[in-house]
Amino acid sequence: QAPLRLGIAGLGTVGAGVIKIIRSQAEQIAARSGRAVEITAVSARSKDKDRGVPLSSYAWEDDPVKLAARDDIDVFVELMGGSDGPAKAATEAALAAGKDVVTANKALLAIHGHALAAQAENNGKTIRFEAAVAGGIPVMKSLTEGLAGNEITRVMGVMNGTCNYILTRMESAGLPYAEVFEEANKLGYLEADPTLDVGGIDAGHKLALLAAVAFGTQVNFNNVALEGIDNVTIDDIRQAADMGYRIKLLGVAQMTGRGQEMRMSPCLVPAASPLGQLEGATNMVVLEGNRVGQIVLRGAGAGEGPTASAVMSDVIELARGSRIKTFGVPVDSLQSAPAAQASAP
Ligand code: NAP
Ligand code: HSE
Repeated sequence: QAPLRLGIAGLGTVGAGVIKIIRSQAEQIAARSGRAVEITAVSARSKDKDRGVPLSSYAWEDDPVKLAARDDIDVFVELMGGSDGPAKAATEAALAAGKDVVTANKALLAIHGHALAAQAENNGKTIRFEAAVAGGIPVMKSLTEGLAGNEITRVMGVMNGTCNYILTRMESAGLPYAEVFEEANKLGYLEADPTLDVGGIDAGHKLALLAAVAFGTQVNFNNVALEGIDNVTIDDIRQAADMGYRIKLLGVAQMTGRGQEMRMSPCLVPAASPLGQLEGATNMVVLEGNRVGQIVLRGAGAGEGPTASAVMSDVIELARGSRIKTFGVPVDSLQSAPAAQASAP
């Protein structure tokens, strides 16, 4: 079978990680995919930056939109970020040119996911976004494959590694917010706009995507009741600890008789519970199905290796010939779900 040819736009933390995997595990990937996976062309803002990976064997495009529509790629891998601008334009161009898309961009899909999924489906294509929710944890594939025989009743968890890192590090090291924030930045956890992290918006984007796939509803980020960690102080953390609790940025989504409830906010969780024991830039996602009961997934929610690992799971899925729809079901069958008033935690 002919190789699957990728065009990668975005060569930052995640893009460089993807290139490293493809270069170092080519044979294993080919065996698992049933065909070779190759990079044809790449794009980023700066051609000259040292990215720790050799790029000379790939064609270079300054413009990610041109890259997305190249005749010599099969899959457009969008790793630039941003809900609009080049990420949206290039994704639309790729779909219009008949490419499948793999992206780690939760902001793009939480805002434009429905329209993009419709465009993909009209062209017989799909958008895969395992890396967009909970980094290295295969939460999307758990929902669309492993739990496909269930009605999902609730999803919840800690979905922003930066916030969990900041909250746990402030507590364990007694460090001020600003210092811990800088550490998270150096570790590559932060979004280009860090207010997306600490404002709870990034986690809200992830919850909106998770809820759409879990319940078969239209993606509706505006219905997420949001509160970030920006107002959590070291005193709040200490007082919670004195009572046997820890503060977590916790997301919960469920269908209720009053509509779809989605909330992302700082919550007190018992320190001895699995969620309470979650340290560092780790994520934990709890999925509840009517047949399977509760499934708990825990792992790295951010960083080069874990996020690139999730991107590669989508690439390999496409290389194998999977024709799964963007949100697991045809876009026309996604239900419109009014927002439920959030109940008391
Ligand atoms: P990053 O390190 O900031 O890298 C972004 C890349 O996109 C850079 O290579 C940048 O080029 C390129 N880029 C930006 N604007 C561009 C434009 N107009 N044209 C061409 N290239 C452009 O970001 P990242 O951390 O890898 O994140 C990428 C995506 O993955 C985002 O959607 C993010 O939300 C998502 N994600 C990240 C993580 C994580 O842990 N980092 C985890 C899950 C999901 P230059 O390098 O030349 O500036
Ligand atoms: N900034 C995000 C986080 C990256 O900290 O979880 C992973 O989506």
